[in-house]
Amino acid sequence: MTPLRRQPARRRTAVLRPGAVLATVPVALAALVGATGPTAVGTAGASGAGDPYFPLSGNGGYHVRHYDLTLGYDPSSRHLEGRASLAARATQNLSRFDLDLTGMKVTGVTVDGTRAAFRRDGQELVVTPGRTVGAGHDFRVTVTYGGTPKPVTDPDGSADGWIPTDDGAFVAGEPQGAMTWFPANSHPKDKSSYDITITVPQGRTAVAGGELLGQHTAHGRTTFHWRETQPTAAYLATATVGNFQVERYTTRDGIHVYNAVDPREAKAAAPVLKQLPSVLAWESKLFGPYPFRSAGSIVDHANVGYALETQTRPLYDSAPDIDTLVHESAHQWFGDSVSLTAWKDIWLNEGFATYAEWLYEEQHGGDSAQKTFDSLYARPASDELWAYPPGDPGSGANIFGTPVYARGAMTLHELRKAVGDRDFFRILRAWAADHRGGHGTTAQFVRLAGQLSGKHLDGLFHTWLFTKGKPNRA
Ligand code: TRP
Ligand code: ZN
Repeated sequence: MTPLRRQPARRRTAVLRPGAVLATVPVALAALVGATGPTAVGTAGASGAGDPYFPLSGNGGYHVRHYDLTLGYDPSSRHLEGRASLAARATQNLSRFDLDLTGMKVTGVTVDGTRAAFRRDGQELVVTPGRTVGAGHDFRVTVTYGGTPKPVTDPDGSADGWIPTDDGAFVAGEPQGAMTWFPANSHPKDKSSYDITITVPQGRTAVAGGELLGQHTAHGRTTFHWRETQPTAAYLATATVGNFQVERYTTRDGIHVYNAVDPREAKAAAPVLKQLPSVLAWESKLFGPYPFRSAGSIVDHANVGYALETQTRPLYDSAPDIDTLVHESAHQWFGDSVSLTAWKDIWLNEGFATYAEWLYEEQHGGDSAQKTFDSLYARPASDELWAYPPGDPGSGANIFGTPVYARGAMTLHELRKAVGDRDFFRILRAWAADHRGGHGTTAQFVRLAGQLSGKHLDGLFHTWLFTKGKPNRA
């Protein structure tokens, strides 16, 4: 078993964008002003969510409760037409706010039905409503836009966002790519429900997360209406388009499964996808109830180099093997339901999903987790596994590197050995339950592990998560 499969195929040495340094800190003038409504004094929402790895991802001053995206995609011209209607709530008196959006031409913005001024500034769509939105007030932003979406190139060299394929598009937004196809508060700190209505040429299928509410064909085009009611980070939304074979069923546990498979991958995918219900049932025993009502897989035929745990319905660039299916399914608990507040905590996603693979192998006739740990630990101090500590990857270029996946999983294995199986799985289940549908930080996980086990674990976490170089054997 190769525990490192999901690294980008085209990983490159880190080259950080030179401009990506300063997140604007909002001046809290508005806090001094109690009034809301038309006469309120407002300030501009921050241009970023305050994440040093991706300073412009996300925005300050508001929360998006719901995205209503109406899209049309023509694979032959690669033209995407969109209208995004966002139900938002101001978290400060807001005179101006940003959305994240790259490329695409914006043709109009309204706030509460009234035309708003806007300008583009790099990945920021800067919106100035006719009047200040009072803190705590709900407001609706509608953006109409169109163009040829271009994927972003991440600091590690991988492509992310709306990635055209020979029959549609592979739409994967981690960590930055949501802004390539819809205007968003694009940081996992902000989670929202989604309605995605997408029209494609008849014969193509457009797949998003959650439930398919309706599908109809007219004038040679088919419209798919998807709804995800559970809080979703923008990077976990998709609207993947292609020639897909569709299969739908309900599991014994009442989960609605929708699989979409590129026919070129169907033969290889079938035996693995067949195991989804048993994988989800097995993970539910370990991690607690599956956090969503819908599930499934999107198996595309694209050269992207990674899979993504899109919420309820992971996205694969080719037929996955069982370990990859287990990994992306585990993310539904760890990453999707319990989300990051900062990208530096990415081991909470990748270390956990990788450890789920080890556990699966251990319990299904493969190597024990201890054996997987040992073979990794045997790597020399010069190996990339020890290049940086998983709890502090140092930059956005490192978030999908070997230390995050493998040493992150090794950290969990060390925890398991320190507290014993009973407490280890109690900790995992409590983590998933306590933060379900929300967020969790490394500090919170460390605290929970200590509380539930009654053990002093600070040394263990310090060594495995935060200490540079290869840790000494305990
Ligand atoms: N989170 C994905 C996984 O582990 C991997 C991933 C998503 C990725 N986007 C990426 C890896 C960009 C490299 C580059 O399943
Ligand atoms: Zn992963």
